[in-house]
Amino acid sequence: MAKKKVLVATGGGDCPGLNAVIRAIVKRANQEPDWEVVGSIEAYNGILKDPMELVTLDSKAVAGIHVKGGTIIKTTNKGGPFNWSVQSPDGTWQSEDRSADMMERMNRLGIDSIISIGGDGSQRISLALHEKGFKIVGVPKTIDNDLASTDYTFGFQTAVQVATESFDRLVTTAESHSRVMIMEVMGRDAGWIALHTAIAGGAEVCLIPEIPYDIEKVVARLNSRFTNGRGFAHVIIAEGAKPKDGGIFGKKSAEVGYENVRLGGIAFKFSAELKAAGLQADIRETVLGHTQRGGTPIAYDRILATQFGVKAFEMVLANDFGKMVTYKNNDIQSVSLKEAVEKYSTVNPDAFIVRAARGVGISFGD
Ligand code: F6P
Repeated sequence: MAKKKVLVATGGGDCPGLNAVIRAIVKRANQEPDWEVVGSIEAYNGILKDPMELVTLDSKAVAGIHVKGGTIIKTTNKGGPFNWSVQSPDGTWQSEDRSADMMERMNRLGIDSIISIGGDGSQRISLALHEKGFKIVGVPKTIDNDLASTDYTFGFQTAVQVATESFDRLVTTAESHSRVMIMEVMGRDAGWIALHTAIAGGAEVCLIPEIPYDIEKVVARLNSRFTNGRGFAHVIIAEGAKPKDGGIFGKKSAEVGYENVRLGGIAFKFSAELKAAGLQADIRETVLGHTQRGGTPIAYDRILATQFGVKAFEMVLANDFGKMVTYKNNDIQSVSLKEAVEKYSTVNPDAFIVRAARGVGISFGD
């Protein structure tokens, strides 16, 4: 009898731990004699393209990949089955709904169900596919840690570790030159990476989207480091941080099918604001960018990702579709995709972790 097939896709920005999820799905599926795992290359592009780009994910394909960054089946944060970009003869781009075609292709290939590993955008697509009759399980991923239905997403702790190691390196050079160092981290509209790194590294100032900053207050805190004899200081700024009277610093991308506003570079704008507000010290800016997403996942993320992968396949086995795997209260659980995409998790300014940061002298510029 032909084996049952589950399609695995990774969508959205990559994130350390994706390969550990893929490996866990395959290893668990291999314990079921009548199942096999198929990977769609570059999210759903693999199944929607002609010729299709699909790979059989067997034990050989996934051997040892849990330590590897990125995703062996590639990813994209553009387009998707409901928003497939097609170029017209006049050069303009239109988008097409290819979901019916995708269902037809899956039936033709004998693919029973889907495990979609992705962030909020990918899980919105999962929900829409589920509403069209696809049997689908979601697995959350993002370094931003901004999904409310899960306490942590894998990749986040690795991003914080990378950022903290970079921060530690900036400390010695800041001290040698008596400078103010500004380090920009990712996170989109959530300040999680910035907040955790500021506490782990010991920054004087942490600027996050959830607490708009007052430049005068930041200057006062930085100047205090020079008047109290320390003579150097550090600012961690989240890419989505904003001043009290201003908006987010981003731009629309020219890349076809890329819907997100591109963030990045606020460190330089903020540096100019500090100068304009009268900060005398020399300033240097570091933008960590995609180093936070690349490279090997730390142990925590490999372990979380492995649990997510096993759980996702077991949900497929149990016909438990239309849901996303979550990590809540130290337990691997699941929620409906609808609930999963409803709420974002941003930093609550009243949470204890913010109080703890303030308690060790970190200013949020408020
Ligand atoms: O959502 C993850 C993330 O790394 C954000 O922190 C960042 O703003 C964005 O993706 C960058 O996306 P891209 O890889 O498309 O530049």
